Amino acid sequence: MSEKLRLLAEESYAGELRALAAHEGGHRPPGWKLSPRQVVTYLMGGVADDGTPITPKYVGSRALIETAVATLATDRALLLLGMPGTAKSWVSEHLAAAITGDSTLVIQCTAGTDENQIRYGWNYAKLLADGPSREALVPTPLMRAMEAGKICRLEELTRMGSDVQDTLITVLSEKMLPIPELNTAIHARRGFNIIATANNRDKGVNDLSSALKRRFNVVVLPLPERVDEEIAIIVKRVGEMTATLDLPAPPNVAEEVARVVSIFRELRGGATEDGKVALKTPSGGLSTAEGIAVLVGGISQATFFNDGKLTPATLAASIIGAVVKDPVQDRVVLGEYLETVLKKKPGFEDYYAALTEMI
Ligand SMILES: Nc1ncnc2c1ncn2[C@@H]1O[C@H](COP(=O)(O)OP(=O)(O)O)[C@@H](O)[C@H]1O
Ligand SMILES: [Mg+2]
Repeated sequence: MSEKLRLLAEESYAGELRALAAHEGGHRPPGWKLSPRQVVTYLMGGVADDGTPITPKYVGSRALIETAVATLATDRALLLLGMPGTAKSWVSEHLAAAITGDSTLVIQCTAGTDENQIRYGWNYAKLLADGPSREALVPTPLMRAMEAGKICRLEELTRMGSDVQDTLITVLSEKMLPIPELNTAIHARRGFNIIATANNRDKGVNDLSSALKRRFNVVVLPLPERVDEEIAIIVKRVGEMTATLDLPAPPNVAEEVARVVSIFRELRGGATEDGKVALKTPSGGLSTAEGIAVLVGGISQATFFNDGKLTPATLAASIIGAVVKDPVQDRVVLGEYLETVLKKKPGFEDYYAALTEMI
């Protein structure tokens, strides 16, 4: 087992990427390690030409992933949009790993991100000693991606100020990064592109200017439509994550995932599964990713404090933590849900008891 807490996509799936790359597999755009078809196989799962099984990374619509991959083969950048926890960052990491073998060129955009973190910065000691020179320049992940012909990932693009976002316009339209201090410019190598993610639920975001928007193709990643899809995603990811954490998997994981998903979907959708009772929705997203976090937390608690037995009681605190993001309103929403729905829901008696005891 690796000493690293988390392996990069290109490290975890090095074998799969090697097996896919070993065969032609169709036309490869300049600078790409795999053909677009192979990239889609890597993300959606399948079999490599030499028979190596490829595990699915993204569970959902193949057409969406095809659009994303096709976009990256053009001169337009890709913007993955969606609710929190819809696998935007996950897909972005795996796309970068499959296309260029390097998912590490990432910029996390925040309200405090300035132009120096997007374009380039300066090593001030060198700058003062010797004046502006290439050695005194500190390249950003974006600049390194341009020079190496790789993919730069911009996480949560709309969180940084609009003026900073607009520094990307030259990069995306001219494929060039001017460095006026050195009277030169970095020209992007073939293979360079940008994958940005943005959250369509955040408050206080800075919408993209229309000039910048025009340079992105938007792919919206949805929450899983079907309940069985959502259960499958959570069971798979929980299995992978507990294995990395060296936590033994309790035998009833799938059963508890199904019950937690059922509760989450009712609360998120604002109605009971049969559609008969309308419900208030909590302020948080209750996404698939929250479901994964609840189960992993519960399994850890079960392992260390409950003889490995995963029960509604070991999951209750994490469920409440996921639902109650606003301590006043969400507590009321959950309380009402418990009394009007969960109390009478067949097969959920133990969840009702555990949650009412703890809320
Ligand atoms: N459709 C899906 N297919 C595979 N994994 C998913 C899916 N939806 C959510 N996940 C999982 O949810 C977790 C969080 O996703 P993340 O990419 O951080 O969300 P986002 O960036 O959209 O907020 C990841 O571990 C990912 O594997
Ligand atoms: Mg993200």
